[in-house]
Amino acid sequence: NKLSITAICGSLREGSFNRKVLKAMEELAPKHWEIHHVDISAIPLYNSDIESHGDPQSVVELKESIRTADGVLIITPEYNMGIPGVLKNALDWASRPARSSVLIQKPFAIAGATPGGGGTAQSQAQVRQTLLAMNAYTMPGPKVLIGSVHEKLNETTGELNDESTLRHLERFLIAFEQWILIFKQSQK
Ligand code: FNR
Repeated sequence: NKLSITAICGSLREGSFNRKVLKAMEELAPKHWEIHHVDISAIPLYNSDIESHGDPQSVVELKESIRTADGVLIITPEYNMGIPGVLKNALDWASRPARSSVLIQKPFAIAGATPGGGGTAQSQAQVRQTLLAMNAYTMPGPKVLIGSVHEKLNETTGELNDESTLRHLERFLIAFEQWILIFKQSQK
């Protein structure tokens, strides 16, 4: 039984710590998971004038990837104690049309990493609030709040190699699968 997971990274930069966490999750994920990455870097700033002429290709891809997923994983940095604009913008596009968007009743899980000490708690709280407005089903916990992430990487490969963080990510992934299955079963 394959599980289709869409992954969205709230950082666009190549060397992103959050992308490294996502890569670690991909390696830890159960073998029956198929993880599909969505690139949000080409999504224009939301503008209903653009939307009225039809969704741009990048938005079509985003919506299709969410629509066909069993669950969506968001891994995001924190900018100025909140959600990065690029991520909020992508979610705003995906939330349309409001009453029939692909986000409605979609299981989500949120994680984040920062070189700072707060573990992206405030950014994640805003993502949760945004998804609540969109009627998505966000997993309450366990939470993944990775602080001092730069100290948790292998010095040569740059991969996340902090044992207790990796074990926590494993628990998070298993919990997300259980969260998804609650809704899959209720749809039968
Ligand atoms: C940051 N950063 C940051 N970190 C944090 O923990 N809390 C914060 O409020 C902020 N604010 C903030 C604002 C802006 C505009 C930038 C560019 C950065 C630092 C941030 O965590 C750091 O740049 C990370 O490396 C970003 O994540 P990625 O790109 O490495 O995944």
